[in-house]
Amino acid sequence: MNKFKTSDYNTIKSALVNRNLKQALYDKGKVIMDGVLLTLHGDEHRKRRKLEHKIFQRNFFKYYEHELFPKTLNETIQPFLKKGTADLLDFGYRITMNLTADFAGIDRQKKSPKETEDLLSLVKIFSQGATLVHSKRPHDEVNKEVLVALDKFERKFLLPSKVRREKLIERFKNNEIAKSELPRDVLTILLLNEDEINLSEDLIKREIAFYLQAGSHSTANSMTHALHEIFIWGENNPDEFERIKNDTLFLQRCVHESMRLHPASPVAWRKSECPVVLDNNIQLNKDDLIIMDLHKANQDKEIFGDDSDIFNPHRIIPKNQFLWGLTFGIGLHMCFGRDLDGGVVSNENTDPNNHQYGIVTLLVKKILDEKGLPDSKNKPKVDINTERPNWGSYPIIFGERL
Ligand code: HEM
Repeated sequence: MNKFKTSDYNTIKSALVNRNLKQALYDKGKVIMDGVLLTLHGDEHRKRRKLEHKIFQRNFFKYYEHELFPKTLNETIQPFLKKGTADLLDFGYRITMNLTADFAGIDRQKKSPKETEDLLSLVKIFSQGATLVHSKRPHDEVNKEVLVALDKFERKFLLPSKVRREKLIERFKNNEIAKSELPRDVLTILLLNEDEINLSEDLIKREIAFYLQAGSHSTANSMTHALHEIFIWGENNPDEFERIKNDTLFLQRCVHESMRLHPASPVAWRKSECPVVLDNNIQLNKDDLIIMDLHKANQDKEIFGDDSDIFNPHRIIPKNQFLWGLTFGIGLHMCFGRDLDGGVVSNENTDPNNHQYGIVTLLVKKILDEKGLPDSKNKPKVDINTERPNWGSYPIIFGERL
């Protein structure tokens, strides 16, 4: 097997849409990732994606953002506001835990902070297992923890959620309730399995665990990176900081700009199923590996300009590109949560009162509205357990002046 590396934006784009290149980043994380959507290929991937995509529709995201999310956000932030401090990662994980559990279909029966904490501690272990390729911890140790966590997750969260849904599905099949009365989530879709695809109990467990970690990990990190960029930029540009706080469309641009600089997964890996020519230098044979540096590609000067390595929400980009670059992937495995987290890109006709901003922008806005600022006595720390450039802790204080 030969290994190739590229950070060329257009080469990566052509690789991500190429049907002969198969997902390879999660081969080490099989304990949790085996057979889940992100690792599937070909027909199997197409069928599962079609089935699950029913949940991830733009009109539902807008409804979720406007009607359901504000209540969860207020409930989750209250204990932090009372204390006057928060760790952004902790807050981010708690809020996104509820968000992804809603989409995955995991009930929190007590809806208590303790229950969210329990689920969260399991999901953090799933995250470590999924991104094992970048883990600095002994892999055996992480895998053992994942197995224990999966078992606990099944007993405490998955089984009760399944039983409730199975009863409702039964009633729907007996014409006692309408389809619209079924929960709108991935677990219900999988149990209903209208496309009759092959799904074992264990696979459903891994699929739901994958959803929980895929959504929460990336959203919490994205929010923290965006706030960090905004704090630093605001310190040097006080007028712009005022604008960010008052103009949510501009804030959304800042979030997209930060997403460009900090892709949740800094690389994408694919293996070739047959000989594939990507460009003059990259000619893959069967089973060759291509490692794509999304972090570098998102700083391509041709597309994002000469200052592509710095945070500049005013940057102008070509019409056919997104400000977040390749952060949500493109092509076959493009992220289901893109419009949910990133929202819709605004234009000159956008009505700011009826716009879909995306969950990350709403989270950042809430922290800024509550006058959250970095705790000058408690510096943020990078996450030392992974090669991924993420924050491990980011303390803030509410109600402080910059
Ligand atoms: C800022 C937040 C997020 C980022 C940056 C992000 C990024 C990504 C990327 C880069 C991929 C493609 C990976 C590849 O091509 O190898 C992906 C796939 C995926 N994402 Fe996200 N994601 C985010 C949030 C979410 C959320 C909130 C959900 C669900 C609630 C979600 C669900 C998924 C799913 C299901 C896939 C797999 C799609 C497939 O394989 O067909 N993501 N995400």
